Amino acid sequence: MGYILSDKVRNLEPYEPVQGTYKIRLDANESYLSLTPAIREKIGKLVSQLDFNRYPDPVAADLCKQYAAVYGISPDNLTVGDGSDELISILNNCMLQKNDPVLTVSDDFSMYAFYGALSEHPVFVQPKEEDFRLDVDRSLAMIREHGIKMMIFSNPCNPTGRGLTRDEVRKLVKGTDALIVLDEAYMDFWDQSLLSEIDRYDNLVILKTCSKALGLAGLRVGFAVAGKTLTRALRAVKSPYNVGLMPQTVAAAVLSEPDYLRECAGKLVCSREQLGEGLCRLSEQFPAIFQKVYPSVTNFVLIRTPYASEIQDALKERQIAIRKFPGYLRISAGSPEENQTVLDCLSDILAALPEKEG
Ligand SMILES: Cc1ncc(COP(=O)(O)O)c(C=O)c1O
Repeated sequence: MGYILSDKVRNLEPYEPVQGTYKIRLDANESYLSLTPAIREKIGKLVSQLDFNRYPDPVAADLCKQYAAVYGISPDNLTVGDGSDELISILNNCMLQKNDPVLTVSDDFSMYAFYGALSEHPVFVQPKEEDFRLDVDRSLAMIREHGIKMMIFSNPCNPTGRGLTRDEVRKLVKGTDALIVLDEAYMDFWDQSLLSEIDRYDNLVILKTCSKALGLAGLRVGFAVAGKTLTRALRAVKSPYNVGLMPQTVAAAVLSEPDYLRECAGKLVCSREQLGEGLCRLSEQFPAIFQKVYPSVTNFVLIRTPYASEIQDALKERQIAIRKFPGYLRISAGSPEENQTVLDCLSDILAALPEKEG
């Protein structure tokens, strides 16, 4: 008799991002901005001097120092991860006891429930209210009712683009002893971060990533920001050399250019505005197709449409990738030219769609 896969992994499918070659990629909420020649040159020099025969710094002290300086926090609050994805996995695997219940919300980033289930925790899901509002009182009630030990959600939310105010998040964190994991992957596009208050709460972990506004998705660098006790535990449970020498060096070099980073975030917000306005115009023109374009405080826009598959396929034929969910499309903000191309293509596609029954 051969080896038999365990029940929990037997039917899992490997993660499959949108694949193929596309002229325009607006499916993964990446930054459309590539590094400048001057920053690339600086990186080239730094990388050429690295001691590749040595293990990297396990706590990535230099990188944490640069990151902390940009965000006005202390490096002592940071744990580095191989993207924030790894940190979500670590939080589920290492910070909870066996069978501790976890709370996620729907709709939200799908990896939370995935890692929760993989770590064999009972995962409770709080449905969102109308227009994807997260009701914090309801979260607190569910935490009490089910003995939740960890709640995880994104703010602002992927894929809805909507955010909770700082006051609402404070109410949640203060209202429970459960661990609250607040994923601020997209907070660089908004102004309601709780980062500066991190030392006030012993039950809060904020996740940050270099993959969105900082334009470094290819590097795989994320951070868990937490008080001293949680940070000590997170550093103790992560694998020692989880972030390599190159990602540490390159991310630190980019973070040492705060003016450039601020400029990039500004451009991405402008791009989202341009995309959102164009989509709203299409919604006015084709209200039965683009039934709702949701306001966004991120770098992407969500649209409710009964034609999600048809529209995604039609854009694919034009070599444009966007993300589809049942009944919804999510489009990441691209360069002004990319946005205009998508809007022009959508205008043609929507005009050609037949009326859908019922
Ligand atoms: C809310 C949210 N958190 C985390 C991630 C993953 O970030 P990273 O690239 O740091 O693993 C994403 C990526 O899309 C995301 O949308």
